[in-house]
Amino acid sequence: MKGKRILLGISGGIAAYKCCTLVRLLVKQGASVQVLMTPDAADFVSPLTLSVLSKNPVHANFKNNNHEWNNHVELALNADLMIIAPATANTIGKMAHGICDNLLLATYFSAKCTVMFAPAMDLDMHAHKAIQNNINTLTGYGNYIIPAESGELASGLSGTGRMAEPETIAAHIESYFKKKNTLKGKQVLITAGPTYEAIDPVRFIGNHSTGKMGLSLATAFAEEGANVVLICGPGVQQIALPKNITRIDVVAAAQMHEACLKHFKQSDITVMSAAVADYRPAEMASSKIKKKSNGLDLTLVKNPDILHDLGTKKSAKQLLIGFALETDNERQHAAEKLKRKNLDMIVLNSLNDKGAGFGTDTNKVTLLFKSKRTKALPLMSKLDVATEIVKEVISM
Ligand code: CTP
Repeated sequence: MKGKRILLGISGGIAAYKCCTLVRLLVKQGASVQVLMTPDAADFVSPLTLSVLSKNPVHANFKNNNHEWNNHVELALNADLMIIAPATANTIGKMAHGICDNLLLATYFSAKCTVMFAPAMDLDMHAHKAIQNNINTLTGYGNYIIPAESGELASGLSGTGRMAEPETIAAHIESYFKKKNTLKGKQVLITAGPTYEAIDPVRFIGNHSTGKMGLSLATAFAEEGANVVLICGPGVQQIALPKNITRIDVVAAAQMHEACLKHFKQSDITVMSAAVADYRPAEMASSKIKKKSNGLDLTLVKNPDILHDLGTKKSAKQLLIGFALETDNERQHAAEKLKRKNLDMIVLNSLNDKGAGFGTDTNKVTLLFKSKRTKALPLMSKLDVATEIVKEVISM
């Protein structure tokens, strides 16, 4: 972290007091910390304390006491990383919806560097759909979430909503800067999201996959310097991507198959995280099917198993990784898929695990390897799961 310029944006929540420890930890590791606060944050922690600890003036307003302008664009452009902690429901909402009514937000909207945010609020607020949607919007924009932790809250209630401890936040920052471009020069192929199989011009067979895991994987591989081709099914959020990720959008399994075949040969590492439809209608009606009788029979035919096909084409120096979403006899089914599809690793998702599966920001997976080794990971953000997968790929 030596010499890294870190912008710490503190918004007005009780967890703001923990930022004194966070600043100390970062400064101790050699980072240069610039603190920004929302006007309300100063009610929870003293700007003077933060200024002494960071060895820098603390900014809360667009102008300072000498009537000088605090240039948010300059602050934003000079930073290597911005971390917003605590990120209150209010600040998260404004970040998600482009509301820019203080210096912290203006700096956030001008930032070109990676932005991390550590939500902190009461449990029911945290669980509210509106707040979860805003958090999803922010991670969808490529921001990095340091998830709220479970425990005792300022209200006296207990549940998820506590800001991550300063040591945890510092560890996330440290591991972000530790990335060493280990995969520079490597070509990675990733699939994400569902496929839609057309029934007629307006209807399709699909599934609930959102592509979040695939987007997180693409980000994690790109952060290690790899060149990534990301093949997305329909509905995967359009987010700004770094230059070393090339996105290709497809709709049906057949198109995903074709795109995979085109890029597989050059790929050193392939990760199939897409939820590919196993079947498609035998025929697509050319016009909208009208409602006539009481029932409607659809004949479905099997789609190609893309991963299986890639497994048959794989060379000894290529790594092939699949996902398995199971509801029963999970490990056994995943191990069978690993073998049948000639994989090096399979990522097992169990729909029985709370917080795992489609649409959530978190995932709980078990990694199964060709060598028969297994590694069960705890519930963590999808980006952290992706980082763990990348670490395993690097060691392979
Ligand atoms: N997969 C694929 N092509 C398909 C179906 C699945 O490439 N037509 C890939 C998925 O991307 C995933 C892996 O195969 O990486 C396992 O997918 P999953 O749906 O769990 O298994 P299936 O092989 O479809 O078996 P089943 O549905 O019977 O569990």
